[in-house]
Amino acid sequence: MSKTHHRVAVIPGDGVGTEVTAEALKVLDAAANRFGFTTERTEYDLGGRRYLSTGEVLPSSVQAELDGHDAILLGAVGTPDVPPGVLERGLLLKLRFDFDLYINLRPVKLYEGVPTPIAGLTPDRCDMVVIRENTEGMYTGVGGVFKKGTPLEIATQESINSRYGVERAVRFAFDLAAERRNHLTLCHKTNVLTFAADLWQRTVNEVAGDYPTVAVDYVHVDAACLYLVTSPERFDVMVTDNLFGDIVTDLGAAVQGGLGMAASGNLNPSGDHPSMFEPVHGSAPDIAGNGWANPVAAVFSTAMCLAHLGHRDAATAVEVAAASVLPELETMGGPDMGMSTAQIGDMIAERVSISK
Ligand code: NAD
Ligand code: IPM
Ligand code: MN
Repeated sequence: MSKTHHRVAVIPGDGVGTEVTAEALKVLDAAANRFGFTTERTEYDLGGRRYLSTGEVLPSSVQAELDGHDAILLGAVGTPDVPPGVLERGLLLKLRFDFDLYINLRPVKLYEGVPTPIAGLTPDRCDMVVIRENTEGMYTGVGGVFKKGTPLEIATQESINSRYGVERAVRFAFDLAAERRNHLTLCHKTNVLTFAADLWQRTVNEVAGDYPTVAVDYVHVDAACLYLVTSPERFDVMVTDNLFGDIVTDLGAAVQGGLGMAASGNLNPSGDHPSMFEPVHGSAPDIAGNGWANPVAAVFSTAMCLAHLGHRDAATAVEVAAASVLPELETMGGPDMGMSTAQIGDMIAERVSISK
């Protein structure tokens, strides 16, 4: 029995983050009305604007408040006015790490009527999910610099892979594969990263024993990029580390019609902290302020949030409504989209309200 009242924290963030989040919230309201639940929302002004005016990235009191919510919806953070990493590491990655959001779930699905740059690709051949380990790897910040600014400068950036961290991501991926088409692909670089990849491969091999119905495959990450373009049908669930997952999901986004289509959930499956839902894309400073951003990735991310909160019917209704609008768009974002960000949001919300 799912709860009927949810406390949702909203971080619109920077650039198009604010534009697409406004539309996602319209759709959330439509879903709440239609499916009989309520949301109590707290909006947090975090990101470039706040940093530039106060110097604050994520005050600990705000983080504690966020922790008291049932879920977090985030637009995007990062702006050219702020040095790279300040907001990304200080806000987004901090929440992923501190709230132990160890699964980054990123579907790569081509919807009907969506133009893909891959000639001849049809939706039946592109329906996969990337499970990106979200708390370790190259993202931990372990490393350092020596003799900075001199000709002898040395920089290291370590990839951290714990058996515990790898195994929980791998088990999540197997569980998901068992609910889908029973196929799991480990994506790594066993031919070069002989320490980290070996840990991943052995973990997959051992955990596979608990999932006799799931067929297990392996691809090197470079080949995975090729196959994502030439034959995405070979993938059902792909499990990979933090950095590879970041990179392959932007490629996956391109295959499914662009970053305006790619949704993601940062999950804490234990429920100890709120999970956070956000589009894969960033603040898109090149198009921000024009109403050209495609809000569908943010809307799909909201659908994932609804499913996470136990409202599966509402999640499906939102996904169906958003998918129904896609064939009516000229492009999946940018000046030639044929509709504004707000018009798309209105249309999806209206279809959620009237759908049966
Ligand atoms: P980006 O994802 O913002 O943009 C890449 C390209 O995709 C741009 O050409 C942009 O116009 C386009 N695009 C992105 N979202 C779109 C949408 N909804 N509709 C149509 N087109 C869209 O990546 P970037 O330019 O490398 O990064 C910009 C900033 O965002 C950086 O500060 C980066 O660190 C940050 N970033 C934040 C997140 C996040 O908050 N989750 C994710 C990625 C990047
Ligand atoms: C993403 C983004 C982030 C990442 C950045 C903004 C820290 O690119 O969510 O894909 O690298 O994970
Ligand atoms: Mn990324």
